[in-house]
Amino acid sequence: MTKIAPSILSADFAKLGEEIKEVEQAGADYIHVDVMDGHFVPNITIGPLIADAIKPITNLQLDVHLMIENPDAYIPQFAKSASIITVHQEACVHLHRTLQLIRSHGVKPGVVINPGTSAEAIKPVLTEVDLVLLMTVNPGFGGQSFIKEVVPKVAQIASWREEMGLSFEIEIDGGVNEETAPVCTENGADVLVAGSAIFNQRDRKAAIDVIRKSAEK
Ligand code: DX5
Ligand code: ZN
Repeated sequence: MTKIAPSILSADFAKLGEEIKEVEQAGADYIHVDVMDGHFVPNITIGPLIADAIKPITNLQLDVHLMIENPDAYIPQFAKSASIITVHQEACVHLHRTLQLIRSHGVKPGVVINPGTSAEAIKPVLTEVDLVLLMTVNPGFGGQSFIKEVVPKVAQIASWREEMGLSFEIEIDGGVNEETAPVCTENGADVLVAGSAIFNQRDRKAAIDVIRKSAEK
């Protein structure tokens, strides 16, 4: 079954705990935490204190997406609450080392690429990761439109996974909704992040069900 990872970026931060419990009860698989530093991306969001506060109120794994410069400096802090930490290839000078650093903290490492970065940029580290996250928007904000030109990269990563005998998950982030989910899963995606398509709906269970159902058609 396709996994759904609600991005709390579009949640109501004044009642974040309730929002998380609601999507957990609605069948979410991960809680996607978007960490932005105002340098790597033009927005500032959540820090490790918030991730620490979320951790005890949910049974779901925290999927922490670091959109920050110098992620190595913050990995130890996020490792306290995260089950998965993803870092951007574009932000890591020593990407292989950073992925190993994440694993050394007992957390699953994932690598992310922006829409403008080729799949080849992460081929050498595919053996090091538990998850590959492909951005289908330019990171920084929720509610943007899905960039369909990224889809061939999903298929490319899925075919390398097969050829190399690896088992990492492929996750898609940005503009995922009922319309765009099918092309993601048809090309090999296992996990779909959705922010606005879930939190902008009053009935979160219906929103998750609709995305999952369309993804599995
Ligand atoms: C974008 C974030 C996404 C975003 C997704 O920078 O990484 O996780 O919150 O939001 P939607 O689903 O609204 O595109
Ligand atoms: Zn994200």
